[in-house]
Amino acid sequence: MKINIRELGANDQYKVMSSLVVPRPIALVSSRSSAGIDNVAPYSLFNMFGEAPPVVILGLQDHHDRTVKDTTVNIVETGEYAINLVDEGIAQAMNICATEFPEDVNEADMAGLTLAPCDLVKASRVVEAPATLECRRIAVVQIAPQRKIAIGEVVMMHVRDGLIDPGTLRIDISAYKPVGRLFANLYTRTREQFEMKRLSYDEWLKQNGAEGQA
Ligand SMILES: Cc1cc2nc3c(=O)[nH]c(=O)nc-3n(C[C@H](O)[C@H](O)[C@H](O)COP(=O)(O)O)c2cc1C
Repeated sequence: MKINIRELGANDQYKVMSSLVVPRPIALVSSRSSAGIDNVAPYSLFNMFGEAPPVVILGLQDHHDRTVKDTTVNIVETGEYAINLVDEGIAQAMNICATEFPEDVNEADMAGLTLAPCDLVKASRVVEAPATLECRRIAVVQIAPQRKIAIGEVVMMHVRDGLIDPGTLRIDISAYKPVGRLFANLYTRTREQFEMKRLSYDEWLKQNGAEGQA
């Protein structure tokens, strides 16, 4: 089947895109308003886009009633935020942070999460998160009237002890236990992995019985 996505309305475009491009990591974004109020909310239109500088991108959509989300307002106004990565341990709390509480309610309190100051940016980090990326805005790009993309540079990282070997910088994936978002209310664990070695051309030739043809 072919889907001519340009003929679909926004909701259906979201439905097919977000269910095919899976699993997505979840950024539990903590930001602070210019008035000093902390905000925590999950964003799965999220990924890293390179190193030197380390770049992360968030897809920020306005609420259905067209009001702008607090995270968007804070990133636009302050240019600073933190991305807390989500593991099995804080998955339920992450989901509670997506509830649209009244403005004066602190999502982290409601979710039982502890906030602590970041080192370099004026935002709090979630202490229970396996890792936090402190970010400074590079640019916020308006891609449609109700949609923006925030491009940020990671300027500091906090990683729970025992997750990354300080010598090799390799992660212990079985200790990390990140969760991914599939679609709608569906999530996935990352407990099962498989290995696939990337071959050089010579190795590929050997495996395919074409030795000497190079
Ligand atoms: C797992 C998950 C992922 C989400 N991803 C996004 C996203 O990528 N972009 C977005 O605009 N909203 C996303 N949302 C919805 C926001 O978290 C929700 O609208 C939240 O209330 C926004 O809070 P804020 O106004 O404090 O920023 C997601 C919600 C959940 C539960």
